Amino acid sequence: MERLRVDGGGPLRGSVAVSGAKNAALPILAAGLLTAETLELSNVPALLDVSTMLALLGRMGVRTRREGAKVAIDASQVDSLEAPYDLVRTMRASILVLGPLLARFGQARVSLPGGCAIGQRPVDQHIRGLQAMGAQISIEHGYVVATASRLRGARIVTDMVTVTGTENLMMAATLAEGETVIENAAREPEVVDLADALVAMGARIEGAGSDRVVIQGVARLGGASHRVMPDRIEAGTFLCAAAATTGEVTLSCVLPDTMDATLDKLREAGATIEVGADWIRIAMTRRPKAVNLRTAPYPGFATDMQAQLMAMNTVAEGTGVVTETIFENRFMHVLELQRLGADIAIEGNTAVVRGVAGLSGASVMATDLRASAGLVIAALVAEGYTEIDRIYHLDRGYERIQEKLAGLGARIHRVT
Ligand code: UD1
Repeated sequence: MERLRVDGGGPLRGSVAVSGAKNAALPILAAGLLTAETLELSNVPALLDVSTMLALLGRMGVRTRREGAKVAIDASQVDSLEAPYDLVRTMRASILVLGPLLARFGQARVSLPGGCAIGQRPVDQHIRGLQAMGAQISIEHGYVVATASRLRGARIVTDMVTVTGTENLMMAATLAEGETVIENAAREPEVVDLADALVAMGARIEGAGSDRVVIQGVARLGGASHRVMPDRIEAGTFLCAAAATTGEVTLSCVLPDTMDATLDKLREAGATIEVGADWIRIAMTRRPKAVNLRTAPYPGFATDMQAQLMAMNTVAEGTGVVTETIFENRFMHVLELQRLGADIAIEGNTAVVRGVAGLSGASVMATDLRASAGLVIAALVAEGYTEIDRIYHLDRGYERIQEKLAGLGARIHRVT
């Protein structure tokens, strides 16, 4: 198994280009199932999760072509309407094929994702919404088995804000008969990017980016070209790494407007931040000040940035209180950060992080995608060597991370 070896203690300096967003690319790839015509995407990141989604589509008979960051999806000859357990269990976002399959073919059999390192993560809202649209759904042998002659528009109020739930229902509604209204919809920029791609395919969607999305179903969707939005979480991870190492970094290919909550926290920590239309420059000239944060649905502070900000807090001046409200078990990185010398106490869904003067390198284990990103940041700060095991978690969501960090001056290597 591959590990990352980091010789920490130096500041990050330089420029780095941000890749396309994983959480936008995955639903948009699934949206390719909604049409028999070709969907052409650009700025698709080279990630394990993207390969998993392409493999999943391939199993269904979808022809996919990938050249660098360009991907073409041709779902004209779908011959299987099933998402099998062996793929779904490696990537929960596989559930995103449920809405498109059901809407276009009237049938789908998608494995239930099962457990997850960061919490329970049920998909009951996806199922309830599709049932409201007239689908018959049962759970058989660990699979969601869904049928519908044609979905019909419905008014759906989700119990909580769910990102992939909103996306699944929005995709299903594009081909339903009549109007669908999703209330309490997720407002994440990735939902908007998916809506933009669907509209380019001929869908009629209004309100994406607000908590009320209205979709008028159409009889069919066509091919389109779409450029995937920049990854605000990858961008935020580099910014946290720059802040934690008292570095100076310029990001290109970003959308600063989608990153307010993270930028505000970094400014509060003492960073100087300049932004342009598609770039961000951060400079941290002194030890960061600890910040308090509470994760929340967009535009609140993203749960996907919690571990990275916490890593910065571990070496900050003062005490930061971090409250996780989205996932019940998303402090797996805390025990690993403690191995590097961090002073963190957990009380329920709150972590109290007392900043220490420095961390020291050690062997640590990645437990999930964003926890790994937090560990990388801590490793960059820590004096001496840190080895991070199980980095396939990182490869799921960060394109060429060690290359990009090495470009910023980090001493980082992949070892087997
Ligand atoms: C998406 C993101 C993930 C991010 C998360 C929260 C993708 C591919 N993944 O995950 O990176 O961390 O949003 O911003 O976009 N819930 C239910 N029932 C449901 C659906 C959700 O109880 O049917 C709960 C979840 O357990 C969780 C909360 O709702 O507590 C939010 O989850 P959700 O927004 O659905 O996360 P994902 O879409 O899986």
